[in-house]
Amino acid sequence: MSTTHSIAVIGGDGIGPEVTAEALKALRAAGAQHGISFETTDYPFGGAHWKRTGETLPSSALDELRRHDAILLGAVGDPTTPPGVLEQGILLRMRFALDLYINLRPIKLLPGVRSPLRDRGPEDIDIVIVRENTQDVYIGAGGTVHEGTRNAVALQQVVETHFGIERCVRYAFETAQRRGGPLHLCDKANVLTHAHGLWRRVFAEVATEYPDVKTGEVLVDAMCMYLVSQPERFRTVVTTNMFGDIIADLGAGIAGGMGFAASANLNPGGVSMFEPVHGSAPDIAGQGKANPIAAILSAALLLDTIGHPEAGEAIRTAVNTALGEGWIDLSPGALTTSQIGDIIVGSLA
Ligand code: IPM
Ligand code: MN
Repeated sequence: MSTTHSIAVIGGDGIGPEVTAEALKALRAAGAQHGISFETTDYPFGGAHWKRTGETLPSSALDELRRHDAILLGAVGDPTTPPGVLEQGILLRMRFALDLYINLRPIKLLPGVRSPLRDRGPEDIDIVIVRENTQDVYIGAGGTVHEGTRNAVALQQVVETHFGIERCVRYAFETAQRRGGPLHLCDKANVLTHAHGLWRRVFAEVATEYPDVKTGEVLVDAMCMYLVSQPERFRTVVTTNMFGDIIADLGAGIAGGMGFAASANLNPGGVSMFEPVHGSAPDIAGQGKANPIAAILSAALLLDTIGHPEAGEAIRTAVNTALGEGWIDLSPGALTTSQIGDIIVGSLA
């Protein structure tokens, strides 16, 4: 029996379209092996589209996105557009409007990939970061008075709600229970006593429902040190939007770099969006130099989420095999983006 899924595709800016093409290649190949096919709709949103039309992500497009089974995104960001326009107008708009309240960011050192941490192997670095994705400083609450003068006063507020924390923390406990190992809350409750005090309280409350999950609390500054000195301490980490942004990049760094960091922006009750953690890398755009593995692993998360974890796992296994067997030469200039995609698809077979 064959199932068809509809996928909205936003290649976006810079290397976004190149890596997305490889993700789709892997998605279709893994799908074919598991009786799944895809109908894709391409959307043009990104820097070029904004310059041409003044449009970032119109509400009509949001309505269309909602009607798909999933969204695959390459990258948005363009150094020739003012900072924030595309980030807020496309990426954050999607996260908020579609209520993608979980940003799942696995940090996994893959076989054959060198970590900058000496003496660390794949068994030491296998963490899932559950980043809250709809609150915190990201909502843009605040403002500036006396802008452009020496009297300027800028406020940008941390906004945390019991509701928003609870649904994220509960998702993190479910994840930790499934993965085994401890769940850490990463915060700065010693300074942000109001906002992160609320996180601690909700975390402790929800913890009573999961007596089998061992918990810990870790301050974000210490977390940064431990990620480097003892990454094996962590298995599942739940954190705020801003800290999740930062520690996920640190995590990507210890796991071999942005070329391997996948992510899922999840609305467990609706349509979800999948994107590599990396940005648009305009300096190497269009040259076939980008590593598509982060995008391909994001496609695997997509498959997990739309009900085909066996197909998602097939992609992860193919990536691990190709890397572990040394089929993918990661040295600069050795392979193009599409050659890496082809090797992974070959490894699926
Ligand atoms: C990310 C990015 C975004 C974020 C930016 C582009 C708004 O850095 O997805 O990690 O901060 O969430
Ligand atoms: Mn980021």
